[in-house]
Amino acid sequence: MEHKKIVLEYEALAHDELFDTDAELVKKAMGATYRGYAPYSHFNVGAAILLSNGVIVEGANQENVAYPSGTCAERSACFYAHARYPEAKFEKIAIAARGTDGEFISEPVAPCGACRQALLEYEMLAGKPVMVYLVGREKVYRIPSVISLLPLAFTEF
Ligand code: THU
Repeated sequence: MEHKKIVLEYEALAHDELFDTDAELVKKAMGATYRGYAPYSHFNVGAAILLSNGVIVEGANQENVAYPSGTCAERSACFYAHARYPEAKFEKIAIAARGTDGEFISEPVAPCGACRQALLEYEMLAGKPVMVYLVGREKVYRIPSVISLLPLAFTEF
């Protein structure tokens, strides 16, 4: 038997440690939370994706009275980004959330499994890692790729 181990290495940065361009992406994800449609959970999530053509596409969670019909901020952003700019590659994504008290959450929010799978598709199309920024009130987690958040992923059949 072979023992195997998967390790996730990432960085926790203070907001003022971000490069200007990354700070802008984070700010856009935070701003997008104000466009979440979350009348059921009152948990507003925003995502901002930097594309290779320089465009930043934003998305926010969209809930529905029939709960499973809604979608997360990450998927609203990535599906729109690829539908609008099919030739562009994904470079980076930032994700932010405000809790039921309306404040930005202290611990960074991480994408759900379905969003990790959806984002992975675009990372594969990009052919290189898509950097993921998970935004908390004090810290931003910088994750080196989507695949690092979805080890042993289903990628082909
Ligand atoms: N949500 C997101 O938009 N992204 C995440 O990463 C986690 C959860 C949304 C889905 C739902 O509208 C609300 O947050 C509560 O789960």
